[in-house]
Amino acid sequence: MGPRGTAAKELGVSIPVRPIVTVTRRLPSIVETALAERFEVRLNRDDRPLGAAGLREALATSDAVLCTVSDTLDAAVFSAEPLRTTLLANFGVGFEHIDLAAARARGIAVTNTPGVLTEDTADLAIALMLMAFRRLGEGERELRAGRWSGWHPMHHLGRRLSGKTLGIVGMGRIGRAVARRAVHGFGMRLLYASRTELPAGEAAALDAVHVELDRVFAESDVVSLHVPSNGETRHLVNARRLQLMPPHGILINTARGGVVDDTALAEALRNGTIAGAGLDVYAEEPRVNPALLALQNVVLLPHLGSATVESRTAMGMRAFENLVAWSEGRELPDRVV
Ligand code: 8YV
Repeated sequence: MGPRGTAAKELGVSIPVRPIVTVTRRLPSIVETALAERFEVRLNRDDRPLGAAGLREALATSDAVLCTVSDTLDAAVFSAEPLRTTLLANFGVGFEHIDLAAARARGIAVTNTPGVLTEDTADLAIALMLMAFRRLGEGERELRAGRWSGWHPMHHLGRRLSGKTLGIVGMGRIGRAVARRAVHGFGMRLLYASRTELPAGEAAALDAVHVELDRVFAESDVVSLHVPSNGETRHLVNARRLQLMPPHGILINTARGGVVDDTALAEALRNGTIAGAGLDVYAEEPRVNPALLALQNVVLLPHLGSATVESRTAMGMRAFENLVAWSEGRELPDRVV
């Protein structure tokens, strides 16, 4: 059967009536069922990461692959021969784990799942702020370790989040969702640095002030990162920018680990350059820099930004929609490459 529709034509490929789709990790059952009804699916029942060899095999033997942030799709993986895959439907909005140039060079389209995890990721950023300001992780560890000796006025004092100045780096969908919560829910003052400024109406509604990146660090009580990970944003938070922050400053990262120099961060937390941090993402997940693990004043979560039944189901269905569009030769709704 010949190529069908625009996407297939553009890719110069023919897509079988019932394409083989490899799904690299377990997904909510409603999503797996939808995929199985529509495609010849290869599910990962054991949910173990496929690794480079498994991914190469998937690219060689499937028409499409539904991948996640736990799959490193680098140039070596894309060198698979023979190559059968023509679509990588990424489950997630960030795609720095995929070498886009190598995918393009091999004629593989890439899609992602924007929009559907915005609110949950923003909730998590606020949760990290509250945990860091009120030192909630330390409190829980103390209680569970049997070290709580009872209430007293000076016990475990944190700092108030309400009314403080929030600096947002990256005012995309998630940055804006965090801004709304902070301003309307916690009465915070808002500074932000972003390539694109907010439309005037939205900026006015949030009373948001657009400033240079360094000013965000120098003038905020808490800085929250919402930029993608790429060559430009790598180690955007470095020793120099941490030095700009006030000693009571808090850094929140729900974006990507590569945006922060975690050795510099651990040093700044250890020597009191800043007061605390809340992290959900790391440069080499699941590895966490041991220097961070040794500190009390950093909240460490295991990449839970979109970890709700609602978001994970919506992400799966969004990836499914991209696969269906591809299989029907239609325009891909969330095409990245
Ligand atoms: C996902 C995320 O859990 O979508 C993203 O970019 O960071 C997370 O919400 C992850 O990408 C799943 O592949």
